[in-house]
Amino acid sequence: MTLDNKAETYNDKVVMQFAIMTVVWGVVGMLVGVIIAAQLYWPSLNFDLPWFSFGRLRPLHTNAVIFAFGGCALFATSLYVVQRTCHVRLISDKLAAFVFWGWQAVIVLAAITLPLGYTQSKEYAELAWPIDVLITLVWVAYGWIFFGTIAKRRVKHIFVANWFYGAYIIAVALLHIVNSLAMPAGLWHSYPVYSGAVDAMVQWWYGHNAVGFFLTAGFLGMMYYFVPRQANRPIYSYRLSIVHFWALIAVYMWAGPHHLHYTALPDWVQSVGMVFSLILLAPSWGGAINGIMTLSGAWHKLRTDPIIKFLVVAISFYMMSTFEGPMMSIKTVNALSHYTDWTIGHVHSGALGWVAMISIGSIYMLIPRCLGLKEMASVKMIDQHFWVHTIGVVLYTVSMWIAGIYQGLMARAANDDGTLTYAFAEIVEFNYPYYLVRLLGGVLVIIGMVLMSVNTVRTFRMARGLTESPVIPPAAEKHA
Ligand code: HEM
Ligand code: HEM
Repeated sequence: MTLDNKAETYNDKVVMQFAIMTVVWGVVGMLVGVIIAAQLYWPSLNFDLPWFSFGRLRPLHTNAVIFAFGGCALFATSLYVVQRTCHVRLISDKLAAFVFWGWQAVIVLAAITLPLGYTQSKEYAELAWPIDVLITLVWVAYGWIFFGTIAKRRVKHIFVANWFYGAYIIAVALLHIVNSLAMPAGLWHSYPVYSGAVDAMVQWWYGHNAVGFFLTAGFLGMMYYFVPRQANRPIYSYRLSIVHFWALIAVYMWAGPHHLHYTALPDWVQSVGMVFSLILLAPSWGGAINGIMTLSGAWHKLRTDPIIKFLVVAISFYMMSTFEGPMMSIKTVNALSHYTDWTIGHVHSGALGWVAMISIGSIYMLIPRCLGLKEMASVKMIDQHFWVHTIGVVLYTVSMWIAGIYQGLMARAANDDGTLTYAFAEIVEFNYPYYLVRLLGGVLVIIGMVLMSVNTVRTFRMARGLTESPVIPPAAEKHA
């Protein structure tokens, strides 16, 4: 495809498809989250149906929110950003269509097989081996389009957001292939090639870097493009963004063992995980400060622009979870936090606060632009979404922090004669009010997602359909 004919426009079709599915899977995945939160409060909601039970819906929730909602947001934004910053159309429309439909097929297969109980029992890597093969094919095609488009770029410089997206694409390929290596023993069953402590080590090398590269590096790519764009300001320090990139990717890979403190893993490996987690605080906060300070000179927009509110509060939650994470990786702190809802609070301050809010803000900015509009149909609804979401996340995380710390303290409380002060059932009973508050937080978040869906439909009605915008020549567009 040459730049003279069709390539003079950007491929916004695939961007739009992924953006719409971000909203759809966001509603579905978070609704499942609300259902499992309700099941923890009212166990009778399991209805004695195996496919509807907490144990099967929980991995459905995690897969749907991380890979369907978060994944579609990453596909949509990365394919949008790479075209805009390289000033070229994606190298292949057919391959882009394959990536879209292939990824949707992965999600639908996950939604069928997980409730049926087909699982490899590895957290965040539960899907059966044939689906893993499909993921690999889709991911290679995605990498091919992304890096192929970068190779065809019309500017010399590779904008920093693409570095983050690129690192996430390469790292996820590596993690997925290494952790999924297994010997098939039937269509839906397989045995991992690793065993014992090695299996656990590989799994949490994967698990932590899924957080580091899927849930962090890709979304930092979003931050570096959409924050300056929406604020209409340059990145606070472009030099710091490069240091941020190299420091983050160099450190993340070593922190995985903090998930396996006090296990059969050699003690020194656990200590390496702890030390690298503590070091991780520096690049995480350096990058976050760079994101926040990009608003210098545009702080007043925080009052009027709800998209900026989403983006800035997202970065604040990122700072919160990347402060909390290193603290939780300290062995003695982990002795208290592990096996408690503190971890769940940490997860959702990162997931609902950082990942969901940066995605929602970016998608609100991207949808109208792909439809040839200036903004979404209702800016007021974006503002309402912002408030219900923020209050929802605060209720969720604060209730889990309090519950978690109490659970940890109650579990270790001992009487003078050495017996435990609290029975397990007493700790469970203590949780109930907090589980109700968490459920309420979840309901607020889902109300926000419904507002987003309505706003998206109204925006589509306003537009005359997808208008693929012309490729902007490099000289005419300065990088944000
Ligand atoms: C309406 C919003 C949400 C609700 C009500 C919700 C609820 C829940 C519940 C009840 C659990 C199980 C906790 C347990 O086992 O004790 C859970 C786990 C989890 N959720 Fe959510 N969630 C929501 C949104 C999200 C989002 C947007 C993400 C990611 C982008 C996410 C990622 C996760 C992860 C990774 C876990 C597993 C945590 C672990 O194993 O430590 N959730 N969620
Ligand atoms: C400097 C950055 C971070 C560090 C050092 C860190 C550290 C930790 C630690 C120590 C745990 C508890 C492990 C355990 O006791 O089993 C944990 C759990 C978790 N963190 Fe973080 N965290 C960081 C940032 C984040 C962010 C930004 C997110 C989300 C976007 C996130 C998502 C998770 C998830 C999903 C888990 C639960 C894993 C599981 O057991 O299923 N973390 N993290």
